[in-house]
Amino acid sequence: METLAGQVALVTGGGRGIGAETAALLAQRGATVVLVARTQSQLEATTQRIRDAGGKAYWFTADVSEEGALREAVQGALGITGNIDVLVNNAGFIQSVGTIETSDPAEWWRTLEGNMKGLYLATRLVLPHMLAQGRGQILNVLSVAGARAFAGLSAYSCAKAAGLMFTRVLAKEVRKRGVRVMAILPGAVDTAIWGEDGNIPEREKMIRPETVAQIVVQMLTTPADATIDEMLVLPQEGIL
Ligand SMILES: NC(=O)c1ccc[n+]([C@@H]2O[C@H](COP(=O)([O-])OP(=O)(O)OC[C@H]3O[C@@H](n4cnc5c(N)ncnc54)[C@H](OP(=O)(O)O)[C@@H]3O)[C@@H](O)[C@H]2O)c1
Repeated sequence: METLAGQVALVTGGGRGIGAETAALLAQRGATVVLVARTQSQLEATTQRIRDAGGKAYWFTADVSEEGALREAVQGALGITGNIDVLVNNAGFIQSVGTIETSDPAEWWRTLEGNMKGLYLATRLVLPHMLAQGRGQILNVLSVAGARAFAGLSAYSCAKAAGLMFTRVLAKEVRKRGVRVMAILPGAVDTAIWGEDGNIPEREKMIRPETVAQIVVQMLTTPADATIDEMLVLPQEGIL
């Protein structure tokens, strides 16, 4: 598992932010990358950037919380590459920001469901291929919000906490069958997820998405005799 050369990595949310930087670095390390997200222009731009740097990249548009669309993307990826060795479950979004007492029930559930469903579905679709080949890696991009309480972020936090338990259960189920399962829990990262309204922590203090990508690749290239189960990565100044 030390090298990524010749391996195929599917990165959900690979169009921008942490996913795009992770895909670029995985390609730099020799993996063929397949990006999945909803915005075609961003998928095209990131794929072009990776190809311009000499890497191999493909993209499929899909909403990861829609089973049919995601199934088509996974099948399309397998059709082109023949294999998926690495799944980076990175797609995610922040909505329903505000206290529980003022929250909108429909938006609250959409946030919880949307974040968790994509993680489950992508895993469910890719896992059988990994188990059949007796080898694979699944890395879930979660959040410090899944492990510590942040007022005003209940739906997102609950989704990420569910993702953490999902990661732990999945690891129990498959690690002895050759599939390595891991989670990274970043603190604030300077990406578009924070929006533009200015009511956010100082961006200069946030982690760079390239740094998260570097740590993800480190986890994916850890020697085969060990697994970094869960990695909490905070800005240098801590929780912002
Ligand atoms: N930035 C942070 O401070 C931070 C901290 C901890 C954890 N994280 C986690 O890191 C991951 C990446 O976030 P980011 O900061 O890089 O955010 P970002 O810049 O907004 O990127 C999110 C990516 O996910 C995709 N995506 C979102 N919902 C999707 C869906 N339903 N189906 C398919 N693709 C979807 C987006 O593309 P489309 O919109 O085009 O689909 C985009 O490519 C998320 O899981 C986030 O929760 C972020």
